[in-house]
Amino acid sequence: MRIAIFSFRKYEQPFLEAAARSHGIELLPIEAPLSPVTAPLARDCTAVSVFVGDDASAPSLEALAAGGTRLVALRCSGFNHVDLAAAERLGITVVRVPAYSPHAVAEHAVALMLALNRKVHRAFNRVREQDFSLDGLMGFDMHGKTAGIVGTGEIGAVACQILAGFGCRVIAHDPRPNPRCAAIGVRYVELPELFRDSDIISLHCPLTPATHHLIGADALAAMRPGVMIVNTSRGGVIDTRALIRALKDGRIGSVGLDVYEEEGDLFFRDLSESVIRDDVFVRLMTFPNVLITAHQAFLTREALTAIAQTTMGNVAGFRDRRVPPAHIVDTRLIAR
Ligand code: NAI
Repeated sequence: MRIAIFSFRKYEQPFLEAAARSHGIELLPIEAPLSPVTAPLARDCTAVSVFVGDDASAPSLEALAAGGTRLVALRCSGFNHVDLAAAERLGITVVRVPAYSPHAVAEHAVALMLALNRKVHRAFNRVREQDFSLDGLMGFDMHGKTAGIVGTGEIGAVACQILAGFGCRVIAHDPRPNPRCAAIGVRYVELPELFRDSDIISLHCPLTPATHHLIGADALAAMRPGVMIVNTSRGGVIDTRALIRALKDGRIGSVGLDVYEEEGDLFFRDLSESVIRDDVFVRLMTFPNVLITAHQAFLTREALTAIAQTTMGNVAGFRDRRVPPAHIVDTRLIAR
């Protein structure tokens, strides 16, 4: 069986090749992201694999289906970028990697928190300039602060554990509380209480119609002055324009972002020779208290091994009619 890998990146090559070999699958690497224009490159591939920045809208899926594709294997857990209704209509099965390394993402969220809090990004530049002064670098003890976690699934639960280990008081909001979190003393609250009481807010919910712009003007106004917000979930959970207004007003202490609403036009490529036309993103980059990484929270050896193994396992499972049901994306999940 042959699988076209859209948005194929060098860093994942050894992991994908090893996993494909072990399942007897042939790879067709395609560096371009999936779009209606690039979809015909996968002609005659029963399976294609896509990543978070790919355009898996109805026109792309229609073009894939016309070329004989029957399976879209996501190399990620989030599936908000796939038109699931179109996939169902076209008879395309969509599978994902439900969990690969929740530690990778949770640890990156905490890395952003620590870097922002202790201003590591600023100190690094200062020391390189032989400026050894400390003014403006003061942080706070994480110990004793209140951390509010939005979404306590696989990743959020690990974030709760790490922050509890720092001695934070951890509160959380999730329509489906996780007993693992409750067992370590996490207290579930409604969102207004979480916004009101948290010194640090970390987002770990999926992007759904219910969570789109969950952090908008009202939520930002309800937060503690000086709050730190970290988003490693999906960009659309935050209304970026409202965030910029709150940052300009000086109400937000700091912001760590691994994801951005319009990241599809920016992330995962080298644009250092280009002019960035997204003024909202450029404005975001000007704040000294905003730290942005380009969707790299998943990027650990352990996570890439697991992503490759699960993806190729899903493809082999489809070929052998034995896909683990939990890996099939169910359209009913969109409403969750
Ligand atoms: P998960 O499915 O295990 O957990 C998500 C949790 O969010 C569930 O407990 C769910 O009940 C909860 N939730 C749903 N709606 C909510 C709402 N309105 N308010 C609060 N909680 C809500 O997913 P997992 O593996 O923990 O991943 C979370 C998200 O992290 C993914 O959906 C994905 O968007 C993002 N992600 C980001 C990565 C990165 O590299 N930056 C890598 C992997 C995932």
